[in-house]
Amino acid sequence: MSQLNKYKRFTITSALPYANGPLHIGHLAGAYLPADIFVRYLRMLKKDVVYICGSDEHGAAITIKAKKEGTTPQAIIDKYHKQIKDSFEEFGVSFDIYHRTSSAIHHDLSQEFFLNLYEKGEFVEKFSEQYYDEDFDQFLADRYITGTCPVCSNDRAYGDQCENCGTSLNPTDLINPVSTLSGKAPVLKPTKHWYLPLDKYQPWLEKWIDEKEGEWKVNVFGQCRSWLKSGLQPRSMTRDLDWGIDVPLEEAKGKKLYVWMDAPIGYISATKQWAIDNQKDWQQYWKKQADDADDTCLIHFIGKDNIVFHCIIFPAILKAHGDYVLPQNVPANEFLNLEGDKLSTSRNHAVWLHEYLEEFPGKQDELRYVLTSILPETADSEFTWKDYQARVNNELVAILGNYVNRVMILMHKFFDGKVESEGGNITFTDNELNAEVGRYYDELGKNLESYRFRQALQNVMDMARLGNRYLTEQEPWKSIKTDAEAAKNALHNSLVLIGHLATCLQPFLPRTAEKIFGMLNVAPVTFDEEITFANGHQLNAASLLFEKIEDEAIEKQVQKLADKKAAAAAAPKLAPVIPAKPNISFDDFAGMDIRTGTILTAEKVAKTKKLLKLTIDTGIDQRTVVSGIAEHYEPEAIIGQQVSILVNLEPREIKGIMSQGMILMAENAEGKLCFVAPTGDMPNGSVIR
Ligand code: 2FM
Ligand code: ZN
Repeated sequence: MSQLNKYKRFTITSALPYANGPLHIGHLAGAYLPADIFVRYLRMLKKDVVYICGSDEHGAAITIKAKKEGTTPQAIIDKYHKQIKDSFEEFGVSFDIYHRTSSAIHHDLSQEFFLNLYEKGEFVEKFSEQYYDEDFDQFLADRYITGTCPVCSNDRAYGDQCENCGTSLNPTDLINPVSTLSGKAPVLKPTKHWYLPLDKYQPWLEKWIDEKEGEWKVNVFGQCRSWLKSGLQPRSMTRDLDWGIDVPLEEAKGKKLYVWMDAPIGYISATKQWAIDNQKDWQQYWKKQADDADDTCLIHFIGKDNIVFHCIIFPAILKAHGDYVLPQNVPANEFLNLEGDKLSTSRNHAVWLHEYLEEFPGKQDELRYVLTSILPETADSEFTWKDYQARVNNELVAILGNYVNRVMILMHKFFDGKVESEGGNITFTDNELNAEVGRYYDELGKNLESYRFRQALQNVMDMARLGNRYLTEQEPWKSIKTDAEAAKNALHNSLVLIGHLATCLQPFLPRTAEKIFGMLNVAPVTFDEEITFANGHQLNAASLLFEKIEDEAIEKQVQKLADKKAAAAAAPKLAPVIPAKPNISFDDFAGMDIRTGTILTAEKVAKTKKLLKLTIDTGIDQRTVVSGIAEHYEPEAIIGQQVSILVNLEPREIKGIMSQGMILMAENAEGKLCFVAPTGDMPNGSVIR
């Protein structure tokens, strides 16, 4: 604990995932597995640590998903919060609390932060022109606007970012902006917002970040420097949205807090909730303790797309508020790719955790192992199913599982699974083995404390390799015939080694470590404890730790991804769908009298391009209707056509003709029309409801 030893307690966070969809392997490898390994390590050192996470339940990510699924934001966050929480639990991600930003405690704390900054005069209040959708009568959040990226010409860039070239954008930077609500060009309208003057914090941030050189990962430090170099701009902390936390000001009615203001505060509100549930003092984990400023170590584990929010914006908010500790480190990971392609939710190119759990039941540690082996710690990395199979079969089965199994089987075969040691507890009698295991512990500690989790896992696997080598050299299955003491000694050394293996495996493969402790019939130990095998200690039966992954299982997964890809490519380019209008009441609907009718006559309305004058038999009467369908139908072609007609529409004079009702037409987003008529035999005047 070289570096970390000076801290009294640790507050470890993993990025709060948006509760707008299930988790995939990229999430796990980005912000959760590394943090979980680190936290489990700290706990094994008996450090005072709290590990915080929860669902990010605000922002356009949620409302857009709700629109897509035709439901409410509340239904979306309830559904995905549960699914995400379950997946984390299954994979053993050991949060002390998995909270929600929709909770009251979080809303209150976020508003408190806003008011604190507001009352100190920290915000700059500005009117600015923002995009507005006139059809939907609302301002458009960044993610509700798409257009052409001014940098790379990608025509699907969002108002806040181009996902093709990674450029961070403002909505007004987009060429040909389009509202995703109406599909139309938005207009600019003035609106007032509260801005955090990041420019004012630039000198302070520069100094603070500069101190992190050499300590923070190169990718993180580099990104911060480049943000600072391009000059920080004031950033609005409020939004014109209808989903989120209310801005707690009378004059800001209807406005919400910017999701990137409230989400990181979610780490603090979750800690508050955890403290209430566990009779702790949350402030110790977030606030400077007066006499000893450096006693709380805050570390944010995130993916690289979140760097600016955690290294620049949130620290500026914490600084503006005062009292709070700042992150000691932000070990952001790069991205994980899948089978040669970017992971993509929209293209369904992903290995979903809930699907993996169904298809590979009980194999959580196998995925933890493979992902830890390929964590994108310094550069993007890649998951392939072939590699998954190779690592499970050639490493987990052949090296780790095989070693533990061989020793256990031999102990049962030769000694009935009993430790016989008249001299007391068994320990290493082989000095070389002892020294080498000691070296692995040192390496492991150094690597874990430097966020090199891939390498740390290799240290543990090297310990298993060492065990295999030792066993092969000692050949107790031979010596048992000539020198039973030597065989016993070799197996006892191996047992001690397996105890160390189980100890060191705990942060990485918690279920496997537990199984080994179970077989050894000992309680789990921490890093500064030793397992004791006393004279007469009875081992439990051996069972296999891992099983081979067969080719068929892998081929099935590869095929599944290929099928998804083919389906995505073959999917007809759907015509854009006209978005839904706001809800109406049932009474509004019931007030409409819609009937089946038949067109008896049709003629063009003079001096117009679009209008036809129709006579309709409505079953109630025969009446005249003027309809804007002349560009779609020749009059003579529609005589006898059955239609649906709204008969109680207020009569209206159109081009000197009294129109009594309206024909219902289906219209697609490109403006193509067709009649809406009953598909069965229905007399005129039948009611449509
Ligand atoms: O990128 C994301 O998925 C965000 N929901 C991360 C939020 S992290 C934190 F600030 F809450
Ligand atoms: Zn771009």
